[in-house]
Amino acid sequence: MEGRIGGWWALVTGASSGIGAEIARELAGHGAHLVLVARRESRLRELADELRRRHGIEVRVEACDLADPDELGALLERTAELSIDILVNNAGFGHYEDFVEIEWDSMRAQIEVNAVAPTRLCRHFVPPMIERGRGQVMNVASIGAYTPTPSFAVYTATKAYLRHLSEALDEELAGTGVRVICVNPGGTATEFLDHAQQVLKPHGDLLLMPAERCARIAVDKMLAGRRNVVTGWLNAIGMWLLRLLPRVTYPRLARRAMGMAVDKGSKAGE
Ligand SMILES: NC(=O)c1ccc[n+]([C@@H]2O[C@H](COP(=O)([O-])OP(=O)(O)OC[C@H]3O[C@@H](n4cnc5c(N)ncnc54)[C@H](OP(=O)(O)O)[C@@H]3O)[C@@H](O)[C@H]2O)c1
Repeated sequence: MEGRIGGWWALVTGASSGIGAEIARELAGHGAHLVLVARRESRLRELADELRRRHGIEVRVEACDLADPDELGALLERTAELSIDILVNNAGFGHYEDFVEIEWDSMRAQIEVNAVAPTRLCRHFVPPMIERGRGQVMNVASIGAYTPTPSFAVYTATKAYLRHLSEALDEELAGTGVRVICVNPGGTATEFLDHAQQVLKPHGDLLLMPAERCARIAVDKMLAGRRNVVTGWLNAIGMWLLRLLPRVTYPRLARRAMGMAVDKGSKAGE
């Protein structure tokens, strides 16, 4: 199903699992060539083989720790000869733990991966998109971007940052041929919960959307020219209803909603 992005090059971060891997599959289905970025190179290689075989596209694998500014700088140099027309800032993680319990290094890495790296990637790839008069950025935030969430404070703050950045940048780029969409998933069945040390309550998995569906919505809405999307109608209604409430209530509501879905797990190794 090749469309208007057939033959375009897309760089997808966090393509080694979950939503990012599925976005890569969706884009490949539309005929886009891919640069797959994450730390787990063997997973990226497997996906690259699958997508080349199935769709006959070109795929490059780029192992990179986005929390390390030097590694990110080297990635930008290695991809310099490619015209990236689609940038998908999807890599991200959170730690579901009280603020004062999170080690600074882990907090800093969250801010680097979820906020600094996407900003740097936009700064790097958007100007050449403007010169070519075409391009698309997709920033994967979260419904946490709408709700300051206790025990997820840094994570939801980085996602609110990404949402603001996306919406302002999309307006700033009006008339250039370059668009920005912010995708806000709700609970999605990926490795995210394990990494966040979240343990689902019984039947909590019923609330999770499959990653394939989340990615399909993201790419469809991107192609439809949307600026912002919340995945899943229940999530969308929930985020809309928030407008009717005073903002001061959000953290308490978010704490309750989160507590209904998940418990805090133990740290790896404990
Ligand atoms: N799942 C949910 O419920 C949910 C809800 C709302 C928003 N989101 C957002 O959706 C996005 C995708 O998450 P997911 O649910 O698909 O989780 P996931 O399966 O854990 O995928 C996260 C991806 O980010 C990459 N990543 C993490 N740290 C990295 C680093 N330092 N350098 C490079 N890549 C890194 C991981 O690759 P490596 O480990 O191989 O590096 C992996 O490919 C994230 O931004 C997340 O915040 C998820």
